Parts: sequence; C-alpha cells; structure tokens
Amino acid sequence: MFVSPLAIRCVSARAIMPIAVVALLLVLAPLTACAQAEDTKAWHTPTRQPDRIMLGITPDPSTSMSVNWRTSTDVSSAKAELAEAEDGPDFTKRAKETKATSQPLKTDINEAHFHTVQFTGLKPDTLYVYRVGDGKNWSEWNQFRTAAAGRDPLTFIYVGDAQNNIYSMWSRVIRAAYSSAPDTRFILHAGDLINRRDRDGEWGEWFYGAGWINSKVPIVAVPGNHEYGSGPTGDREVSTHWRPQFALPENGPKGLEETCYYADIQGLRVIGLNSNVMQKKQAEWLETVLTNNPNKWTILTFHHPIFSASRGRDNKSLRELWKPIFDKYKVDMVLTGHDHTYGRSNLVSGNNVRADSGTVYVVSVSGPKMYSVDQQEWMERSAGRTQLYQVIRIDGDKLSYESRTARGVLYDAFDLVKEAGKPNRLINKVPNTPARGNDETQQ
Ligand SMILES: [Fe+2]
Ligand SMILES: [Fe+2]
Repeated sequence: MFVSPLAIRCVSARAIMPIAVVALLLVLAPLTACAQAEDTKAWHTPTRQPDRIMLGITPDPSTSMSVNWRTSTDVSSAKAELAEAEDGPDFTKRAKETKATSQPLKTDINEAHFHTVQFTGLKPDTLYVYRVGDGKNWSEWNQFRTAAAGRDPLTFIYVGDAQNNIYSMWSRVIRAAYSSAPDTRFILHAGDLINRRDRDGEWGEWFYGAGWINSKVPIVAVPGNHEYGSGPTGDREVSTHWRPQFALPENGPKGLEETCYYADIQGLRVIGLNSNVMQKKQAEWLETVLTNNPNKWTILTFHHPIFSASRGRDNKSLRELWKPIFDKYKVDMVLTGHDHTYGRSNLVSGNNVRADSGTVYVVSVSGPKMYSVDQQEWMERSAGRTQLYQVIRIDGDKLSYESRTARGVLYDAFDLVKEAGKPNRLINKVPNTPARGNDETQQ
C-alpha cells in the first residue's frame, strides 16, 4: 500500500499531539500545585497579630468563658484583658489581665503558637468585652454575653458538615445562620468541620468563614471521621489542630478531653459525644451524666447518625450501643451530620420510628458536598442537595426548631412541648414548600 509522506507526517502529528499534551500537563501540574501550596501558605501564615480567635463553651457558661487564638511562634507571652462592657471607651481603665497558656503546633504549612485563657468568676447574663494579644499586638475588643444563671429562654444554632470548599461555599451559610439568630448563645458543629484533619489551610478556611462570629459566640464542636486518622502508633487519633485550637470542656472520659463533654446552659444540658472512638467507654459515662441531670432539656450531638439518611451508611453497632441509653433517659433531641443530606424524625422510641413519645433525630449538612437521600420510614422531612442551618429556641416547656436553607428559606419546623408527667409532644410545622429530593432541578 502506498502511503504518502504527507500522510505519515499527519499521522505522526496526530499520534504525538496527545502525548505532548499529557507531557505538558505533567510538567505544569506540579507547578500549579506548587503555586497553590505557596498561595495557601501565604494566606494562612500566622503573625504576631492574633487571629483565629474563638470562644469555647465551658461547663458553666454563666460564670466562665474560654477563648483561644493563634499567633506566630515569636509570641511566647500571651495574655487577655477583660472588663464589663460599657457604652463608652472607659471600660479599658477597668480591664483585668489574665495570662494565657500557650502551646506550639507544627502544621503541614507552618508553625504557630496557640493560646488559651479561661475567664472565670464572671457575672451571669452580663456583657463583657475582651481582647487578646502579647501586650503590644492586640486584637480588637470583642464582646460576649455570659449565660443566665437559671432556666431562661435560650437560642442556639446547629450545623452539620461544613467540610469541603469551606471558604468559597460554606461561608455564606454560617453567616446566614448568625444573621437569622444573632441572639444565639452558642453554635453547635456536629463534626466534619474540615475534610483533611491536619491541613492547616482547611482550618484557616473554616476560621475565615465564621470570622468574628467565633469571637462573639462560643462553639460546641465534636469531631467527625474527617477530623480523625491514623497516628504514629496506628491508633486512630484526632486532628493535631483540635486540642491546641479549641478551648472546650474537659469533663468527659479520660482520653477524650475536648471531644466528649457536657455543658449546662439556661436549663439545657448539651452533651457532645465522640462517635469515632471509645464508644463503650462513652456509653458508661453518658449514663452517669444523664442520671445526674437537673436540666429540663437534654440535647446530644455527635457525628455519625443513629438513623442514616443516605444509602449504605447505617451505623448499626452505634445505634445498638447508644440508643437504649437515649430511650432510657428520654433524651429530647440528637443532632448529627456525616450523611451530607437532611433527615429529621418524628418521636422515636425503641424500634418504633413513628412513636408518640421518645427522641427526635436529625441529620443535617451545611457545606456543599452532597450525597443522595435514601428515603426511609423514620424521616418526617428530608432534603437532598440543600445546604441548611438550624435555629433552635427553648422557652420554658417549649422547644421550637427551624431548619433553613442557605438562602434563609424555612424548610422544616416543629415544636416540642413538655407537659408534667407526660412524654414530649411533637407538633409538626413543616412549611408548605416542596420536599427537596435529588432530581436535577434541585441542583
Ligand atoms: Fe463524616
Ligand atoms: Fe462528612
């Protein structure tokens, strides 16, 4: 067969082109990754100026408050100043100093010092003003309000996994949540705050998203599976960031400090569990914490749902271990994440997911990563491909729950009412908006 020299050149060019493109991509890819890594490093490099300032819930937020922040390693003598807030600037004359405890953290892109102060002996239901720094480089003065001493109307925000594209796509959700409920007394994060547990850039995005909200309202946070990984000994270990950067209670079982704990606030006992590890030990601890509980309301949070809202993600052993305790002590609500969908139950008791007494279970997601909804009998309301936040208001015998979309649109609601000697009554207030599934129109 005759083949012209021109044809050979064309064939050769066609054959070589894809190889050349692949080669070019191979050369450029590391350069692009390098540039991104440098950008990430530049963005998240700590300085002497405090950043990532965050309040943490304490076991008794009516008399104490924790604050945590980050600086460069140049700062070894960190401190905070605190005063009761006043209308004018003269509170600075009455500010008292507290020395911080500091610890270093070497991350994948930098080295930092994290500092913690716990303000104690505070007056209940009082507005305080504080700043953090090293005596020369100070943060702005931030304000927080202590909790009331006894039972008092309470509002809080709850969000599921932020996890992915946090800077670009989660920021609007947490800001919408705060805008909906600026009277929130804490913000509850049910795990998978970030995607890769030790990536400082991801934590930087998370702190950026909430910004100054974190310096004004304390967090309640529990770790998800994405805050866990294998440590040097092969054991599963929480992110090396977790303990240095958060100031959370240490009243849980030994070895689970700041990941399993409880706090009492205005008639609510909020209990955070760590569903990643040591589940049996936590079951024993939970019994004691629920036995000695003088609060009217009890709400639990942890990452892995008792009832899954997405296919193939059932947590059977966790359900069998923990749920009988929730039933026994009549836990009011259980707030979880992990499934990247939304699902909310009616009252659940024993194996009856359509009961007229028991606990309300919720799975929610605030970030943009989405799985398909697996519609199941336990779900009273569900949603796919929807970023949500929840506002929960408690006033005496009534709890009012709202789940809102990233646009602030009411998607789900109910009231939970207590009557002496009777089980909780759930009154659905699901708005007349279409259920959100997984079809293309929802994307
Ligand atoms: Fe998860
Ligand atoms: Fe997740």
